[in-house]
Amino acid sequence: MIQVEALTKRYGTTTAVDGLSFSALPGTVTGFLGPNGAGKSTTMRLIVGLERPTSGTATVDGHRYADLHAPLHSVGVMLDARSVHPGRTAYRHLLAHARTHGISKARVREVIEMTGLESVARRRAGTFSLGMGQRLGIATALLGDPQTLILDEPVNGLDPDGVLWVRRLVRDLAAEGRTVLLSSHLMHELALCADRVVIIGKGRLLADAPVQEIVDRSAGGSLEEAYLELTAGSVEYRGRAADGNSASGGSR
Ligand SMILES: Nc1ncnc2c1ncn2[C@@H]1O[C@H](COP(=O)(O)OP(=O)(O)OP(=O)(O)O)[C@@H](O)[C@H]1O
Ligand SMILES: [Mg+2]
Repeated sequence: MIQVEALTKRYGTTTAVDGLSFSALPGTVTGFLGPNGAGKSTTMRLIVGLERPTSGTATVDGHRYADLHAPLHSVGVMLDARSVHPGRTAYRHLLAHARTHGISKARVREVIEMTGLESVARRRAGTFSLGMGQRLGIATALLGDPQTLILDEPVNGLDPDGVLWVRRLVRDLAAEGRTVLLSSHLMHELALCADRVVIIGKGRLLADAPVQEIVDRSAGGSLEEAYLELTAGSVEYRGRAADGNSASGGSR
């Protein structure tokens, strides 16, 4: 279980995360939603100790990530698929991670198969397409067979087959009793794969409820409509249509 309590992160005058509290429960896929810049990635980085909170706490199964003895076995993380060393092959990248935790080569081969990367495992990661890189990021997250998975926009860049595969994968992981926290901007996809959603805007909690409840509460009858209603006051970067009208929020 992931527990975020009164979490705040400031960068100078920017408050990226603002007194945020929520939980992601075992056996559940929790979708993490919010406009660009809402603080989703920052929250995830705080959970896995890549950033220090200004105040508040984030724990996984009651422990701070930094205190975990074998983090890969507890928490699988994919935050930025581009963080792989470009000169390393996918296989070498996974093997390097595996060695830090005494994970076998057989498991490395297994996650390569699970993510469909067999044919490119010996290619340098720097030559990978966006979707291949995402698959390698997911393979890395799965390596330690963790109880908790934190995936930042895992379907970003995946082809339709890949999107379907991630949907099934996260459903299966939750069915095994694992905790899955995943961010995405794809409302239709989240409606299909998440049990609950946590919606944030400008670093603050806007909604935390089962998907169906959020949908039922909205006038529009879909997660996308509900999301647009809930975040209308929190969108910081709103484009304009070619005719000068706002691209969303009432003029659709
Ligand atoms: N290292 C940093 N230094 C300064 N500001 C930062 C830093 N990291 C994030 N921020 C700011 O924190 C806010 C939240 O960013 P974050 O990346 O968490 O948003 P997000 O919800 O993941 O957005 P997106 O949907 O675009 O991925 C933004 O205003 C961002 O500019
Ligand atoms: Mg982000």
